[in-house]
Amino acid sequence: MQEQINKLVADCKKQVAEANDLKKISELKAKFLGKSSPVNDLMKGLKDVAPADKPAFGKVINECRVAISELITSKEVEFKNLERSRKLQSETIDISLPSTKIEIGALHPITKVKNEIIKAFMGLGFNVAEGYEIEADYHCFQALNIPKDHPARDMQDTFYFSENTVLRPHTSPAQIRTMEVQKPPIKILCPGRVYRADDDATHSPIFHQIEGLVVDKNITLCDLKGILDEFARIMFSSESITRFRPSHFPFTEPSVEVDVTCMVCGGKGCRICKGTGWIEILGSGVVNRNVLSNCGIDPDVYSGFAFGMGIERIAMIKYGIPDIRMLYENDVRFLKQFR
Ligand code: PHE
Repeated sequence: MQEQINKLVADCKKQVAEANDLKKISELKAKFLGKSSPVNDLMKGLKDVAPADKPAFGKVINECRVAISELITSKEVEFKNLERSRKLQSETIDISLPSTKIEIGALHPITKVKNEIIKAFMGLGFNVAEGYEIEADYHCFQALNIPKDHPARDMQDTFYFSENTVLRPHTSPAQIRTMEVQKPPIKILCPGRVYRADDDATHSPIFHQIEGLVVDKNITLCDLKGILDEFARIMFSSESITRFRPSHFPFTEPSVEVDVTCMVCGGKGCRICKGTGWIEILGSGVVNRNVLSNCGIDPDVYSGFAFGMGIERIAMIKYGIPDIRMLYENDVRFLKQFR
């Protein structure tokens, strides 16, 4: 029997050596160790062996099984390792290759400045109220104390769709609409796109405004000054202050133009501020009594202030942009600087 076993092991060794893939190895596994393998037959034959010889026979058969099993397993491991290293090799990534460039976008400077202004005023307790870009003449003018044929209509060179419908020339109608439906206290910020028949280095037919409105009991010009001073500090520099100059708007009385300390020279006077040390940033004033009454708010009980600024103008001041048209040309070399 030993001879038979030796032959079996030698046979297995030969076939394992000839096997050239994992599939062949699993076939050999079934052939030499499976249910109908010669080793199994030998095991089955054990029952006919004399009891005294059984341990010796069993030992020999078992050694044969272990030997065959080792032969097959070691070849199996060898093939598996081979396959893995082949796989690793074919899936290698060359991390030194330059990658495809992913361009990172950025907010447009107008959006950036708009967000900054909103953030500053939200910190001071304002809420955002957006209106309509196509507006009624009434909400753009009449409710704001600018009757038809009033000369002040020239201040906003307006695009008309029809006699009563316009492209809003300012975001003030959003303030009117808020006052029509909301009782004081009101503290809102109205950002948005506005339209005027105007086109040069500092004016664009489409631009952006942010207006603010506060209505409550005992609101005065002092509250306006305090809020705008704080805004100037947040927006421009901790050293910034504001200066009020008398002005005229039909919807505010008194009305003021507001200047801030020139951020280029710090107030000493330079080319940007034309030697004055001040830069004009917005128009504002105490809400005209007629405007409050037009919206159903009693001017004997409530008062308010309003202000309005051009976002482009603020961006031009903040970043020293010489021509408003640069903001609309979408020249990537220009826009990249605001990343
Ligand atoms: N509505 C004015 C404009 O568009 C700005 C402004 C708002 C002025 C509020 C005073 C008060 O020019």
